[in-house]
Amino acid sequence: MTGGPKLARAVPLLMLVLAASPASPRQPQDTRSVWDGVYTGEQADRGQPLYRKECASCHGDLLTGGEMAPPLAGGSFLSNWNGLTVGDLFERIRKTMPQNKAGKLPRTTIADVTAYMLKVNDFPAGKEELSTKTEALSLIQIETSKPERKK
Ligand code: HEC
Repeated sequence: MTGGPKLARAVPLLMLVLAASPASPRQPQDTRSVWDGVYTGEQADRGQPLYRKECASCHGDLLTGGEMAPPLAGGSFLSNWNGLTVGDLFERIRKTMPQNKAGKLPRTTIADVTAYMLKVNDFPAGKEELSTKTEALSLIQIETSKPERKK
């Protein structure tokens, strides 16, 4: 017995896994930030009623937080997330929210709600919708203040 055939099957599989795993979120050349117009206005408009339905009872209509739940907009929220990625935020919501029925919302709903949250936090809309794929979202940095860039 040589392990040949087995290895021949394992190697392409390994390559697939490597290709599919998210790139390091810290590589500046292929990262974007929330300042780059990473959602559309239309998507945020879809997100608003979804937010009202699924999140507002705890986090407040204006994302200012409630008795138990923290705000989802403004300085203290942003300082919690500064330096992390939209992928981190998306996964946090996907796995733990709404707190009373975590893990139940479809990715499209979470993406739309996240777009709405970005809008309320005053990040600019753009031409492309926020992805529903965590790997793509992990390339978008959350930066509290607008980075200075050459146009
Ligand atoms: C039943 C109440 C409830 C609902 C509904 C709810 N949340 Fe929460 N959420 C909480 C509580 C309480 C916390 C703080 C405790 C924790 O982190 O689990 C929290 C924390 C969070 C955080 C972390 C905030 C931070 O700065 O670390 C995010 C993001 C979040 N919620 C998003 C959402 C979104 C988006 C929805 C709707 C899809 C939602 N939540 C619905 C109660 C709720």
